[in-house]
Amino acid sequence: MTDHPDLQGLPLETRAVLLSGQDFWSTPPVEEAGLPSVVLTDGPHGVRRQEGDFGGLGITRNVPATCFPPAVAVGNSWDPAVAERIGAAIGREARALGVHVVLGPGVNIKRSPLGGRNFEYYSEDPLLSGVLGAAHVRGQQAQGAGASVKHFAANNQETERMRVSAEVDERTLREVYLPAFERVVTEAAPATVMCAYNKVNGVYASQNRWLLTEVLREQWGFAGVVVSDWGAVDDRVAALAAGLDLQMPGDSGAGNRRVVEAVRAGELDEAFVDASAARVAALARYVRPATDGSGAGSDAGFDAEGHHALARELAAECAVLLRNERGTLPLAPGTRVAVVGEFARTPRFQGGGSSNVHATRVEAALDAVRALAGGDVPFAAGFTLDGSGDAAALRDEAVALARDAEVAVVFVGLGDAEESEGFDRTTIDLPTAQVDLVRAVAAAVPRTVVVLSHGGVVSLEGWHDDVDAVLDGALLGQAGGGALADLLYGVANPSGRLAETVPLRLEDSPSSLSFPGEQGRVVYGEGVLVGYRGLVTQGRPVRYPFGHGLSYTTFATADLRVEVTGRDTATVSVTVGNTGDRAGRHVVQVYVSTTAGPVRRPLRELRAFTKVALAPGESREVTLALHRRAFAYWDVVEAGWVVAAGEYAVQVCADAGTVLAERRVTLAGDDLVRVLTLESSVAEWFAHPAAGPALVEALTAALPADAASPDEQAVMLQMVGSMPMRRFAADFGAALPADLLDRLVAETAAARAG
Ligand code: BGC
Repeated sequence: MTDHPDLQGLPLETRAVLLSGQDFWSTPPVEEAGLPSVVLTDGPHGVRRQEGDFGGLGITRNVPATCFPPAVAVGNSWDPAVAERIGAAIGREARALGVHVVLGPGVNIKRSPLGGRNFEYYSEDPLLSGVLGAAHVRGQQAQGAGASVKHFAANNQETERMRVSAEVDERTLREVYLPAFERVVTEAAPATVMCAYNKVNGVYASQNRWLLTEVLREQWGFAGVVVSDWGAVDDRVAALAAGLDLQMPGDSGAGNRRVVEAVRAGELDEAFVDASAARVAALARYVRPATDGSGAGSDAGFDAEGHHALARELAAECAVLLRNERGTLPLAPGTRVAVVGEFARTPRFQGGGSSNVHATRVEAALDAVRALAGGDVPFAAGFTLDGSGDAAALRDEAVALARDAEVAVVFVGLGDAEESEGFDRTTIDLPTAQVDLVRAVAAAVPRTVVVLSHGGVVSLEGWHDDVDAVLDGALLGQAGGGALADLLYGVANPSGRLAETVPLRLEDSPSSLSFPGEQGRVVYGEGVLVGYRGLVTQGRPVRYPFGHGLSYTTFATADLRVEVTGRDTATVSVTVGNTGDRAGRHVVQVYVSTTAGPVRRPLRELRAFTKVALAPGESREVTLALHRRAFAYWDVVEAGWVVAAGEYAVQVCADAGTVLAERRVTLAGDDLVRVLTLESSVAEWFAHPAAGPALVEALTAALPADAASPDEQAVMLQMVGSMPMRRFAADFGAALPADLLDRLVAETAAARAG
């Protein structure tokens, strides 16, 4: 019997109806139970509500909504307040547009710079991704619109996305690919979790019981709806039994019919239908009656102008000032500026695919620069977006136009055709015509500023050293043009930090040897050493490290103190000061570095961060907690998180490659007494606090006193240390008491259990 009151007494067929959509974007109403239809649409950086009815494939015509900065930019903000405000604004628009669940945020990890949907994801780091994702969900759901954190899990590429098996060891999943989902689920309770298209270790995410039930529900306590990615269900019955509640879009009831048949045939426990139907039914809490009489939504419209202004304000928090030689930026009033590059006139502000929002309006940087410059600002396109035309002529024209300027601002980047959902990139290079343009302009004009628009990371090689400043906008949403102008002229002070490393070469990226896999499998060979974790561990030079970003003011870090507050926790205090003459925002980045424990750790990992606003001359003490997880690794033997006893360096860094201050602390860690078996190694036996001494005593008693000197014994132990005890005992253990090993095995197990 169902545990949802509204479903009590309904026939199985009626309950099963709730398990899939009635069309592309909504669940079926169940009148008998008083349940309305629930509308779920994209997501994640704006509402994409399809016009008209939801049948068929007419999904390219959408109702206008605000296009906020996509996740790639929000990642660079390092500011949960930015994510939360965006979530809240999207929530308000959703309600106005009659949408109950907005399909975002995406918190997949950027495993490779080539990932085609990297623009929809926050970072290569799970902490940053999780904190921002949770904030987005909080903001959105506080406005009454459900969220859908996606794509669960290990959906880190577009190549073969609907078939590929991501082959990832459990430690890597737990430490890198799952924590952002875990944080969003445990801290923000999203209405839904969207399962990924791909397989995880050979099993479709949509029918992966370990993922959808053991990890998500049993370990993390998720109580909401697991919804399929659109078309991700392969075997509806298997998916339901694995924990997938809602299949989207609808398949005209075919899946539901199979479910009913399986129940009738005794192949599927009806309890699965009841549990999932009840969860889907509970989504109806997001449906509120219309108040404006239109029937379209619960609120009468949304404040499009207000949201555009918000999008501009927040976009300014997301851009990263990568380079600023000779104080080129901000541009002083009255500077003779020339703007070059088609992206200044035709902004690239979001990515292609399901997240593409029909923006209420789009602000071009050229117009915003002209408005702020207060005078004439000449412009030349310099290149075409589709690569057509005479590149040399366009370039020459731009150089001729810019030649009289004091500063040329060149807008380059990637066009819509170069990256989108559905395919991965094959290069991180900018189009050659744009690289040539930057170099030619830089050679002709006293100072050159490059402004970048792109979803995935682009290489800066071949031109970086020729230019004075680089302002990286990534994709800033519909008001990004205005935000860029604000930053160029110092109306806003850059405060973004890279959420993803900018490598020197694509091949340096730790996943490069195995991305995107072959013949249906992608083996995550770099393990936990993803992104900066791998790069800093290997000491590889990069163009700009994870966490890098400049400001128009300067900051100082002092008085780092780390206080151990328990066996596996600590508190970090540090004083940060604004030592320049402008208000600015600084990101305090705390990393932990250790070699404690039996597994290879990345050289350092981001474990806490906060963004602080400081007036000129102001300084403030910031305190951050390092919880157990900040020190833990996933132990596959224990099948759990373990904090190893030992020394940990707590580092405040300017970025993943630059330590500003460090304190070393010793943690007691977990009192981990391993259970021994005859497969445990001799070294593990000797290291065991109870069994080790007992064994030494027995061996010493069995050997003649002069059998070996202590030094010889040490060498012998090293030689046999890796032998499984079963073999050691067979070869050398004749002198040991007959039942000694069995007795010790039983004792260690009993000690552990007790
Ligand atoms: C995407 C999802 C999206 C869904 C609905 C899928 O192709 O992977 O992110 O929410 O379509 O548009």
